[in-house]
Amino acid sequence: MANAEIPASVIESIQHLREQLREHNYRYYVLDDPLVPDSEYDRLFRELQSLEQQHPELVTPDSPTQRVGAEPIKAFAQVQHRLPMLSLDNVFNSDELVSFDRRIRDRLKQGDDPIDYVCEPKLDGLAVSLVYQDGEFVQAATRGDGTTGEDITHNLRTIDSVPLRLRGTGYPQTLEVRGEVFMPLTGFEQMNAKALAAGEKLFANPRNAAAGSLRQLDPQITAQRPLDLYFYGAGFIANGELPDNHYDILLALKNWGLKVNPETQRVTGVQALQSYHDQLLARRDALAYEIDGIVYKVNAIELQAALGFVSRAPRWAVAHKFPAREALTQLHSVEFQVGRTGAITPVARLAPVSVGGVTVSNATLHNMDEVARMDVRTGDTVVVQRAGDVIPKVVRVLVEKRPPDAQPIELPQQCPVCDSDIEKLEGEAVARCTGGLFCPAQVKQAIKHFASRKAMDIDGLGDKLVEQMVDQGLIEQVSDLYQLTVEQIAGLERMATKSATNLVNAIDASKATSLPRFLYSLGIREVGEATAATLASGLGDLPAIISADEAELESLPDIGPIVASHIAHFFQQPHNVQVIEALQAAGVHWPVLDTQSEQAQPLSGETYVITGTLTAMTREQAQAQLQGLGAKVSGSVSKNTTALVAGAKAGSKLSKAQSLKVPVLTEDELLDLLATHGVDADAKSD
Ligand code: IVH
Repeated sequence: MANAEIPASVIESIQHLREQLREHNYRYYVLDDPLVPDSEYDRLFRELQSLEQQHPELVTPDSPTQRVGAEPIKAFAQVQHRLPMLSLDNVFNSDELVSFDRRIRDRLKQGDDPIDYVCEPKLDGLAVSLVYQDGEFVQAATRGDGTTGEDITHNLRTIDSVPLRLRGTGYPQTLEVRGEVFMPLTGFEQMNAKALAAGEKLFANPRNAAAGSLRQLDPQITAQRPLDLYFYGAGFIANGELPDNHYDILLALKNWGLKVNPETQRVTGVQALQSYHDQLLARRDALAYEIDGIVYKVNAIELQAALGFVSRAPRWAVAHKFPAREALTQLHSVEFQVGRTGAITPVARLAPVSVGGVTVSNATLHNMDEVARMDVRTGDTVVVQRAGDVIPKVVRVLVEKRPPDAQPIELPQQCPVCDSDIEKLEGEAVARCTGGLFCPAQVKQAIKHFASRKAMDIDGLGDKLVEQMVDQGLIEQVSDLYQLTVEQIAGLERMATKSATNLVNAIDASKATSLPRFLYSLGIREVGEATAATLASGLGDLPAIISADEAELESLPDIGPIVASHIAHFFQQPHNVQVIEALQAAGVHWPVLDTQSEQAQPLSGETYVITGTLTAMTREQAQAQLQGLGAKVSGSVSKNTTALVAGAKAGSKLSKAQSLKVPVLTEDELLDLLATHGVDADAKSD
């Protein structure tokens, strides 16, 4: 026997781990009530993985570790459904709903006795059929034409909420269950945001995204898509029994670990159907997934059987459709909006149209790549879509309806807000205004960044204050901060003379800075602290940085062509240089770093790392002080580190320093070091 040498304890551990993981999955996905934090789940999972790696002969297909098969499949096999997968008739209003209920009672000769129904959200996804044999997941198929579907077992396995083995007991030996695969809205938006940033094609809606994800031959791809599913009924069963009503069948599925929509409700009579509908419609935008209506089902299986089918739809169920989320309208014109980071977004001005009950007259076109991909032109008839709380968007063009005078859409060369150049870098989908500090659309963002801790470090200038200052016209650009008076600030919401005086003092104190901080505070794209420091030490002073061309910038360490072009472009904008001049005129200054005498600085050639919590100053302040003495400050400890400054709660960096025998300084020792070089750093409280 192959298992002969495997200790019984290993087999037991593996079984126990699998049971625990299954139970945690059930609590998490089906009950939405996890027992343990994710970290504990991950720990058990890794433990199982490692035992299975040591004993590959013990791996079974229903192990929680076996979700993604190693190899893509070659083609989709066909699957015959043992019972046809039906569709549903629709009703669109309460009159049609009342007739549906009337027909049922007439057929069943129920008179005025109300019928028991089950109400379920109608998810807008894809119908699937899953087969469990002796409790083990063995096959999944698409609906296809209702009789024959495609085998998508390899892809359904990757969906975490699909149990690979049923829990509990009492399930039929062969159990086919049916449900809807869908993509939750947040997952969909994240996926499209990534595609947008990468300049890739967007999915028109969550349904298409879910469909595209199931149509993959390679389960690795499906595994990365945020898919989920709800089961809404049973199909073929053998050697076993199910409860005699739909609601209890759903409860049984849930107990076996199959996820059922928590919105499901059992109600009596047609009025209750209507009120379930009204309540869910009112919450439509708040749901985590897209639904296109509600399904009502007669609860008793006996009554379902008595009612039977007409052509391809059951008489015992109906879909009550919600207003469509897509509508056709005319594109009048396209305007360009400037976002807080300078991103230019084309916005469609539309002939007003009702979409899902809301009148829409503006919709986003995302970016110029999307405009080009859809080949959208002014005058076109377009499909607008609005789902969840999401901004309406143009998703398609009806080219066949294009009028002869339709005009292509072009990206303007100049920012519509501040007239600075618009740049669109190769390989980037987004075009941006280069106005930076000058563009009113970007100014709030620019000021918040300017004042932030690692930039000019203006204590007390929070986001809310910046918004008010800009909205009330007190400041238009960062340099205006230095002209603010106590009276002006005291007049703002939640400010008084004392807090205003403190803020004016803090603004005043920020004038004494360092060149790297100043460069960082300008908010040049892709210029973080490290690049700012490189610019300062590499080029020495501001005039040299402003006049450097791209080649010169690229010659500096760690500055590539993209960053170099952002920097050069920033300083080529006369507005930006004017703002810098205004800042210097207001008194912003820094110690001049003479590149020649750099050698002479007391700590030049030394590298420090700072970790943990300091009390007398912030880490940023400590960093600035050390840099001011010529030291480098790095984020990670290596054998070249001169010393690690370790404050309270120092963690892995401290252990690393100890293991590399790098000297460790306490905060007091740092203060001593700084004091030796004439720096009084103990100044946080003033
Ligand atoms: S029951 C015999 N329940 O709607 C009943 N269908 O138009 C067959 N759907 O293909 C379906 N949510 O893709 C049912 N709670 C739900 C549903 C649902 C979505 C879809 C399913 C089906 C289509 C029928």
